[in-house]
Amino acid sequence: MPKRFETKTVHIRHQHLAEDVSKATPIYQTSVFAFPGLEEVEQYYAGERDYLYTRNGNPNQTELADAVATLEQAEKGVSAASGMGAIMAGLLAVLKPGDHILASHEIYGGTYALLHKELSRFHIELECIDLTRLSTLTEHVRPNTRMLFLETITNPLLTVVDMPFWIKEAKNHGLIVMIDNTFATPYLVRPIAFGADLVVHSATKYIGGHSDVTAGVLVGRGDLIDRAREIVVNYGASLSPFEAWLTARGLKTLALRMERQCDNAKQVAAFLCTHPAVKATYYPDEKSASFFHHRKQGAMVSFCLADESKIYHFYRSLNWIKLAPSLAGVETSVSHPVTTSHRAFTEEQRQATGITMGLVRLSVGIEAVEDIIQELNQALSQ
Ligand SMILES: Cc1ncc(COP(=O)(O)O)c(C=O)c1O
Repeated sequence: MPKRFETKTVHIRHQHLAEDVSKATPIYQTSVFAFPGLEEVEQYYAGERDYLYTRNGNPNQTELADAVATLEQAEKGVSAASGMGAIMAGLLAVLKPGDHILASHEIYGGTYALLHKELSRFHIELECIDLTRLSTLTEHVRPNTRMLFLETITNPLLTVVDMPFWIKEAKNHGLIVMIDNTFATPYLVRPIAFGADLVVHSATKYIGGHSDVTAGVLVGRGDLIDRAREIVVNYGASLSPFEAWLTARGLKTLALRMERQCDNAKQVAAFLCTHPAVKATYYPDEKSASFFHHRKQGAMVSFCLADESKIYHFYRSLNWIKLAPSLAGVETSVSHPVTTSHRAFTEEQRQATGITMGLVRLSVGIEAVEDIIQELNQALSQ
């Protein structure tokens, strides 16, 4: 296998089930696999054949999971029907009733809801901590603390905490570390190299890259992934073959897309910083992103309008940048955290966190950067 990231993303290795092979991976759009006889069924249960029933496993799922595992330098991977399905599998592979989990206070709303509303029913206790202010975990680790969970780049304020430090600190306390690497992708950061045990992706975002699929992938330590795969199967969170195929197809251009999107984002952030209609711009700075590969800082930029009363007008004034509450597609898009992902926030929470009415989250695409800047400029200047 070639060594360089850019080559590995393109040469995804798929497992051929037949002698006669097509260059592109076939879509195994089947719910079940046929066997010549009972001996072959026995071979499946003896671990000598791979596929029986698509909820348990399918070549397209394997292709995607193995490709992300390779790029993340992980032992193994498993795909799931969504990023949330992959997060659930990772959490349940580690946590049991009575356990305590530490999570960064800036985590995706869906992950918070899963921990706060669902896993709390299994007596798994969540404690949110501010990793930008703390210097140690000592005061938060209890005898029943099992895991530290954090995101490489947070949403929507795009904070980058010192991940290498926090992984080391968590390991010193004997914790399992799970990182949501959705916003950074393995093009920028490979948390396993810093000692993380599990890395999760909403593959709906940059891994797929075309806003046409919902998928998740969890990669990491072999024993944990084996358990996570059982959870995906038992909870019915398996990814469909076609979605897996589309995601793996999108993944092939990850390095090219990220290179262009990150370069565009840097220029867009510089433009927004100087615009009089913009009060604040949020973009990871070079220092906090110093452990990122390629000396890049991500492809997401958030900014706050100086006059928050113009927020509705701003979105209406955009001609071709779409308002869509997701991110990471090849097309530039914008979302509005206060009315979507952070809808549940009280006014007090909005003011305390800076996630206010005037905040715009911009997912920068692969278009000509001059056009992106021109489009934003005309909407900001109206
Ligand atoms: C950082 C992050 N993690 C996880 C998820 C959940 O992924 P999905 O929507 O694919 O379930 C999202 C979705 O926006 C996200 O932004």
